[in-house]
Order: sequence, then C-alpha cells, then structure tokens
Amino acid sequence: MTPHPNLSSIFPTPGSIPLEFDLKPVTQDTYLIDGELRHWEGPMREVLSPVCAQTADGPSRVLIGSFPLLTEDIALEMLDAAARAYDHGNGLWPTLPVEGRIEHILDFAYRMKEKRREVVKILMWEIGKSYQDSGREFDRTIEYILDTVDALKNLDRASSRFTIEQGIIGQIRRAPLGVALCMGPFNYPLNETFTTLIPALIMGNTVIFKPPKYGALLFQPLLEAFREAFPAGVINTACGEGRTIVGPLMASGKIDVLAFIGTSRVADVLKKQHPNPHRLRSVLGLDAKNPAIILPDADIDLAVQECILGTLSFNGQRCTALKILFIHSSIADLFLAKLSQGIDDLKYGMPWEDGVTITPLPEENKVDTLSELIADAEKSGAKVVNPSGGASSGTFFYPAALYPVSREMRVYHEEQFGPIIPIVPFDDIAEPMRYVTESNYGQQVSLFGNDADTLARLIDPLVNQVCRVNLNSQCQRGPDTFPFTGRKDSAEGTLSVSDALRVFSIRTLVAAKENDINKAIITSIVRENKSSFLSTDFIF
Ligand code: G3H
Repeated sequence: MTPHPNLSSIFPTPGSIPLEFDLKPVTQDTYLIDGELRHWEGPMREVLSPVCAQTADGPSRVLIGSFPLLTEDIALEMLDAAARAYDHGNGLWPTLPVEGRIEHILDFAYRMKEKRREVVKILMWEIGKSYQDSGREFDRTIEYILDTVDALKNLDRASSRFTIEQGIIGQIRRAPLGVALCMGPFNYPLNETFTTLIPALIMGNTVIFKPPKYGALLFQPLLEAFREAFPAGVINTACGEGRTIVGPLMASGKIDVLAFIGTSRVADVLKKQHPNPHRLRSVLGLDAKNPAIILPDADIDLAVQECILGTLSFNGQRCTALKILFIHSSIADLFLAKLSQGIDDLKYGMPWEDGVTITPLPEENKVDTLSELIADAEKSGAKVVNPSGGASSGTFFYPAALYPVSREMRVYHEEQFGPIIPIVPFDDIAEPMRYVTESNYGQQVSLFGNDADTLARLIDPLVNQVCRVNLNSQCQRGPDTFPFTGRKDSAEGTLSVSDALRVFSIRTLVAAKENDINKAIITSIVRENKSSFLSTDFIF
C-alpha cells in the first residue's frame, strides 16, 4: 500500500511535543504488599510507548518508564498477605460493616481524583489512547466507583429486613468469597481493572491485582492512595510476567475468585492451574467478534456513522468493537463509498492532538500482524477499498476497509483487535445469521434496518446467540449499569454496577424456626446491635 502522504512525518521530532503533554519517564520501583510500599531492586521491564520519536533511522518507540518484574516468591508472599487480611472470613476487612467498607472506598476515590492529571497523561502515553478518551476513561471509572457505592447501599437496604416463610425466620445477605485475583486488559487498563477490583473489595474480598503489560505505569500515582485508603493486605499489586506470577498464585489453590479480562485461551490455562476448580469463581471478559448486519432498508448515513464508531473507536481495540460487517449487496456500493469517505474524514495522529481518532498501536508487532491479515484476505480476492488503507509507519497503521470478505479468509474468523474493517456482502439474511450461530463468540450484534417487522423477526433468534442486540447503534459496554456479558468464548459471569456486586459475593443467611426462644434471641441481637450480619440497620 502506498504510504499516506503524511504518514512519514506523523511522529514528533525532539522538542515538538507540547509541554503540557510531555512525560518524564516513570520509574515504578515500589510495589504494594501487606500495607507497605516496598522498594524493588530486582529486574525491571522497560516500557516503550506506542508513540515513536522520528529519528534519522525512522520511527523509534519512546522509552517512558519501567516497572518491577516481581518473582514467584514475592507473589506468594503477597498471597499470604491477602489471605491473612481475609483470615478465612474473620479478618478486619470481611467483617467490617458495609458502611465501613464504603468509607474506605470513598476515601480511595477522593485520593484517586487528585491524581487525575498524572494518571490520564501516563495512560495516554502507555497505550496511545487519545488524551480526550484517556480522560473519559478516568472519569468513567470514578463514576463507576460512586455508582457501585450506591448500588451496594441499595442492596444492603433490601437485605436489612427479615423474611418469614413456612414458619422460618430468615435474614439473607451477601457475603465475600475470599481472595480475588484481578487482571485487566491493555485497552482499558484502568476502567476494566477497576470494574472488577472495586466490587471485589467493596464486597469484603481481599485482592491481588496484576496490571496488564501495557498499562502498568499508570497505577504508579495510585499506589500511595491504595496504601492509605485500605487496611494492610486488603489490596496488593503484583507487577511482572504473568507466567512467573500468576501461574504459582493459581496453582496454590488459594485464589477464590479469578477476575480476568483477556483471551479465552489464557483464561482456560489459568483455570486449569487451580487444583480445586470447583472452589474457584471465575469472572471473565473474553474474545469477541461482534458483527453488524446492515439490511437493505437501513439508513445508510446512520449505519456508516455507527459502523465507523464501532469499528474504529480507539483504533478498533475494544472487546465490544464491531469486527465484521455484513452488508446487503443491493446497497454495498453506496455503503462502501460513504464508509471510505468517513474513514478519510477521521483525524489521525498523536494522542494529544485535539479531536484525533486514529493513533499508534501499543502491542508489539501489531502492524505486521494486521498487514498479514490484509495480505491473506487479498490472496482470496478481497481488496482494500479506502485510499491509503493499510499504510503504516512504525507503530501507526492507517485503517483498512476490506471487501469482499469471505469465509476462507482469516479475518472472517479471527478477532483482529485493530483498525481493519472486514466487510462481507450478503443476499440472504440466512448468511449472517449462520455466521452468528456458528461463531465461537457470543457477545453482541448490531442490526441496521428500518422495518419493525423484519427487525423483530431477527431480534428473537439473536438474543439467544449473543447477550446484547443493538438496533441502529454500534456495540458497546455502557451504560455501566447495563449487564455486560457474553456466551460461548466471550465471557463468564455478568458485569454491571449491580451484577458485579453479586459475582464477587455469595448469598448467605441466618435462619431460625419461628418460636418464642428464637424470637427473643433475634430481638436481643438486633436491638442491642450485637451482630453486623443479623441487623436491621439501614444505610442512608
Ligand atoms: O474492551 C471492552 C470494553 O469493555 C468496551 O467498553 O464498549 O464502553 O468501549 P466500551
């Protein structure tokens, strides 16, 4: 592909980065263990930004810092700290009344907000997310924390009463599960990590969290806040190689909850490492290949607009991204022309540039992998239909719309997780419907059309294939109060503000036959506030 006229000079030259966005390398040489920020003198991993510097030899990734490569022994020490803090459910944290845990979480949110500038800037440099979207990720995370607090208050209020059924008095609440291992992905390293970490903590579990390889440095400004806001051992941060750290943690059998957002292949490996899989609760957000199906009567402008957002927001690096488009042949030419124009209108460049959409990619060799996917599709007759599609420079890859894509091509089946838009023509709706049914993925689908009867006929079978059917709208996770899950290889467990509280806890109850002795005992316990579980206290 001929390089886009401006790609050769896309990266900054020394001194050309606006001062407010410049980043001094971040040396993360501490880790949080058992309430202590411990200094690390062992091996470190250097972090290279997706942003390159323009040098005489071409673009070269900028070194932005380093983080510890902790050892297996330290990981196991961390596990002991988390297990001690949980103390088989008798620790300070799991026995703290809900109100007390909420106070700690709010204290943390307050401290976190003070670090917004630092975190957002590192996030931008570490994964190449635009400054605007990095800010949105931060704000969405704060909002998630506050919504979680409200959801827990509601849950607790509903549990602050007794039920009497068949002569048995019961009080039913939710209790923690134990030690949780939380691992987020590189594309939402802050938000997705916190959508498991916060509910795990607030429900009384203790946590080890392992940041992703790309997206670890941004936690540096938050380590102190974690240390100050939570009792010792309640939260511990394990940086390093997954193989060195995570394998031994899982093999210990002492992890009670695995919260992992990543590939189903890695999730399977991790689960198998646990010696008692039945003791392990898994909360997984995994692979997806969400299709858009564009029907002949669709509003083409709207479909193009949503498909561009769906395929190319954060360079297509979202688990919820639209990763394949099925277009009815009768409108394919018009759709391709408008899509191509829409891509051309997108601003590309460095993540700090105002209004930028397409930015450099953080994953190693990603540009090569994407180019290989295009070459493979071209071998079987697909063409890049937008000008400059697939052109690249260093870590930057210009979006490519591929047409016509068919089942013998890798990109028809594989999750590209990047700015390639595979487009498949269809004449019979049975073709995309078969794709959805036969797919290994089952997260979401987008349907574009205008006829209510046709859409209704498709909605009913599709809701049994995926977990969200979007009408004339791109696929997405939000709003965070909506359930977020998937079938087949796409997820295990449901995450939303309120569902997450459920997946990180278990229902447990106190029950007693309704006789005079029991009534007197329960009355005495409740009246004199003798138990935090058996209680009618109401959180305002
Ligand atoms: O990568 C998966 C994210 O949860 C997607 O979230 O749809 O709000 O961008 P989003």
